[in-house]
Amino acid sequence: MSASISGSADILPRDLFANKTVFVTGGGSGINLGIAHSFARLGAAIAICGRSQDKLDNAATALRASGAVVSAIAADVRVPEQLEAAMSASRETIGDIDVLICGAAGNFLSKSESLSPNGFKTIVDIDLVGSFNASRMAFAQLTRTRGSILFITAPMAHMAHAFQAHVGPAKAGVEMLMKNLALEWGPYGIRANSIVPGFIADTEGMRRISAQGGGAAFDDYIPLRRMGHVDEIGHAAAFLSSPLAAYITGTSLWVDGGQALAGSGFFNANSATHLENAKPAQ
Ligand code: COA
Ligand code: NAP
Repeated sequence: MSASISGSADILPRDLFANKTVFVTGGGSGINLGIAHSFARLGAAIAICGRSQDKLDNAATALRASGAVVSAIAADVRVPEQLEAAMSASRETIGDIDVLICGAAGNFLSKSESLSPNGFKTIVDIDLVGSFNASRMAFAQLTRTRGSILFITAPMAHMAHAFQAHVGPAKAGVEMLMKNLALEWGPYGIRANSIVPGFIADTEGMRRISAQGGGAAFDDYIPLRRMGHVDEIGHAAAFLSSPLAAYITGTSLWVDGGQALAGSGFFNANSATHLENAKPAQ
């Protein structure tokens, strides 16, 4: 039996997030947009940001079609002033942020010896500095709602993966940021947690790190024998942001079909082949 993928709205009350506002950085595509849809199905108003206004507009149209009120304003998470403007605009239209999802990220495969200092810095700036910027800019709104923050990290934060010397440290930093904020902002009633997605099908991330965006070879390597679905990350996000998780803060929730238990060996070999095949002709 295939897993029921989009069933969170059937299991959880459809008004679970009614009158709540969820702000998703990098919410214009992929896993983050999937998370936005999960919250929209449960009654939330949605704000999304990213660099491409076109991408955000398309995403907003789809979210509105499911009944959500949406604010979609371009902001680069590396630029605090842009985030501040997007958050202040979303506050005016859909209210203070109850749930902040820090999902904006960049990734590519690169051997460490050919990665430029700016290539390394770019990923740290988007993933880690961007996550701090978003949390910091949302702080005042989150104190008023006694809201929560969810960081979207990756297995590379916890385990070395080949050709990911930029992503691993950046995402590991995000995991530590999550714990520091859980400690410091708990007294304000703000919770902070992270989700560690495994390999999620039909995403830009998978297209960048593998041939054919993963496929059957990846299925065999995962204990549950299939890649994850964006909605399954959305389900975990809904749980962690709901009253069911009111006493959960400072934790990382792996949603990976058990992939981490198998280590990174398969990824490392697959990535080496992918990098080799992607080499431009000499
Ligand atoms: N291999 C090695 N280095 C790379 C690279 C690659 N595939 N792609 C980019 N870089 C380097 C660039 O050469 C540059 O360094 P340099 O100035 O020393 O040449 C540096 O990274 C920044 O590249 P730039 O294109 O200016 O960055 P950007 O800020 O416009 O874009 C990226 C950020 C590079 C992460 C881009 O891939 C992106 O926008 N990604 C978003 C989508 C994504 O990654 N999705 C998956 C999420 S898991
Ligand atoms: P994706 O669709 O490319 O999502 C990344 C989003 O971040 C894009 O919408 C992008 O939009 C935005 N973004 C990038 N740089 C930004 C910046 N500087 N400022 C604001 N927004 C920015 O890729 P995805 O695969 O779904 O990944 C989503 C998240 O899941 C990431 O945090 C990733 O690390 C994590 N993850 C993915 C997988 C997977 O299997 N795919 C596994 C583990 C973890 P713009 O380009 O328009 O800015």
